[in-house]
Amino acid sequence: MLSKKIEEALNKQIRIEAESSQVYLAMACWAEVQGFEGVAQFMFAHSDEERMHMLKLVKFVNERGGHAQISDLAAPPTEFGSFKNMFETLFNHEVMVSQSINDLVHITLEERDYATHNFLQWYVSEQIEEEALARNILDKINLIGDDKGGLYLFDNDVKQLVAAGPDAPQ
Ligand code: FEO
Repeated sequence: MLSKKIEEALNKQIRIEAESSQVYLAMACWAEVQGFEGVAQFMFAHSDEERMHMLKLVKFVNERGGHAQISDLAAPPTEFGSFKNMFETLFNHEVMVSQSINDLVHITLEERDYATHNFLQWYVSEQIEEEALARNILDKINLIGDDKGGLYLFDNDVKQLVAAGPDAPQ
């Protein structure tokens, strides 16, 4: 059984994962209308992953005697200016998500809720991967800058990343 405090904290995380899905969906659209298919595919796939992160929490809350709350969401930006800016936004967003997961893990220890603590370990590992992936892409983008040919090749590279699946080594 979840305590009220844990239930509220998990519901807050459900909202964050749902908003993450929306942010990456907006990034996918921005990339797609500019003809960058690889980046768009990557962002569409990432948006789906975030929805999966959200659903996993929803099921857990309901199974543990709580009630998952599906709330309204903040609208994501529609313009990202440049790929560098977009991937910086993505990286910073993931750092924020990691912080939120850490805070959540901390609350489970305070509340001595070891079942939720155990459940959240999956998210702790996932965030290490997500941050590493975002940092890796950002490093590439920083090398390319605004070079059109470089961006074209980068787009193809990212397409391979999607084809290889989320667990492929970077
Ligand atoms: Fe579900 Fe990208 O954090």
